[in-house]
Amino acid sequence: MSKTPPGSKKRAREICEAHGNRPDELLEILHDVQHAVGFVPEALSAAIADALNLSRAEVYGVISFYHDFRREPPGRHMIKMCRAEACQAVNGGAVCRHAQERLGAKFGETSADGNYTLDAVYCLGNCALSPAIMIDGNLYGRVDKERFDAIIAELDQEEAA
Ligand code: FES
Repeated sequence: MSKTPPGSKKRAREICEAHGNRPDELLEILHDVQHAVGFVPEALSAAIADALNLSRAEVYGVISFYHDFRREPPGRHMIKMCRAEACQAVNGGAVCRHAQERLGAKFGETSADGNYTLDAVYCLGNCALSPAIMIDGNLYGRVDKERFDAIIAELDQEEAA
């Protein structure tokens, strides 16, 4: 494990080096940076472009094409909402719409208080208990609007404590 600060350009260059500075490994490199930092800061995408001998526009194009990559710091809690078939079949769409209204954030966005980032995912492997969501790596099943609100209320309380 590197001792270099995760958000530093040096760390981005180390990650590129670990991938042999290969432009065809750009996706893996971006995933590694996001894993280390939580998002892909603009300064680091520039450092990656330099290390891989790509233009900044090329790197930026990949980051903006794949919605997995975040360009802003995520919220304190990451909420992944399943939008795949089994969940949609049991009113998951309504829960997704409700979540966006409740948090005032669309998919890929963070609530104004910085507490919640909302993401759409396609199957959490919890279809038997759909609609399913995942918060900070924890799975929740049979989530309707009321249960969603209750979970958020609990997290809000933890944040306020
Ligand atoms: S379809 Fe939603 S968890 Fe599988």
